[in-house]
Amino acid sequence: MLIRFERKTDLEAWRRELSPDLRLGFVPTMGALHRGHLALIERALEECDRVVCSIFVNPTQFNQAEDLQHYPRTEEKDLQLLLEVGCHLLFLPTIEEIYPEGPENAPNPFVFGELEKVMEGERRPGHFRGVAQVVSRLLEIVQPHALYMGQKDYQQTLIVRSMLEQMNSPVQLVVCPTVREEDGLAMSSRNLRLSAEQRALAPEIYRAMRAAATTFAERHKKNSSAFRQPTPVGQIEDRYLQQLAALPGFRPEYFCFARAADLKPLRDLPPEELPPPGEVVLCTAVWVGDVRLIDNLIVS
Ligand code: PAF
Repeated sequence: MLIRFERKTDLEAWRRELSPDLRLGFVPTMGALHRGHLALIERALEECDRVVCSIFVNPTQFNQAEDLQHYPRTEEKDLQLLLEVGCHLLFLPTIEEIYPEGPENAPNPFVFGELEKVMEGERRPGHFRGVAQVVSRLLEIVQPHALYMGQKDYQQTLIVRSMLEQMNSPVQLVVCPTVREEDGLAMSSRNLRLSAEQRALAPEIYRAMRAAATTFAERHKKNSSAFRQPTPVGQIEDRYLQQLAALPGFRPEYFCFARAADLKPLRDLPPEELPPPGEVVLCTAVWVGDVRLIDNLIVS
């Protein structure tokens, strides 16, 4: 059975009734559920006694009205999937439930420094403040022990980790591996908006990332002192950026090796501070037609 609440007072009452011995897992989503979300719920079900999933298309994290308007909404299918996977509770609030003061007036006390100024933060100003705003609100309501998020949104997981620290929150953040289609395309609700031709080419993003990560790791292994010359990281990035840009309808925004801990671009680090491959993440954002896809890979 899937309990379904739209009002936070109902969820809060349910939460109060829950035995303190039971571990509660929480998976926040914006709906249009796919196997990536289901993997988060399955992991939460393995590790927790009760699992809450929320579906809320959060207006404060969209910096383009059009993106918000086009965000896929597949409520009936989502409900069916949640029932099948065995999720215990779905929280489906309205905007007024989450932001009674209005989305534009909701307080946002978090500070993320450089982390919100690179990659997605740079291209989508305000996006991560909106994410932190809604996740902190949802956590206040759900009061889970553990929060499950996907590595696919790598920068988002670093932001949420920082937010939890700033809140002094005891909630455990569990980051789960990216779930991919067989051809390597990272699962995303946005994939639904790709045409058949775009969908066929989209796995080139993962291929380019793997090839670049291999080149990076090999160069590092072969001659770490040569690797410490100032240019190679940028050369690898540029080569694959250009390869992606040559594909029909592809417009890569960035293709960037960064320190996994804080997303500091390797290009900006002095040679003596370059981390070894296991501490490096490769992140990319590519427009395929009018669909913006992001992906990342921990270099190993
Ligand atoms: O990753 C998402 O779907 C959203 O950013 C999240 C975490 C549900 C917050 O709205």
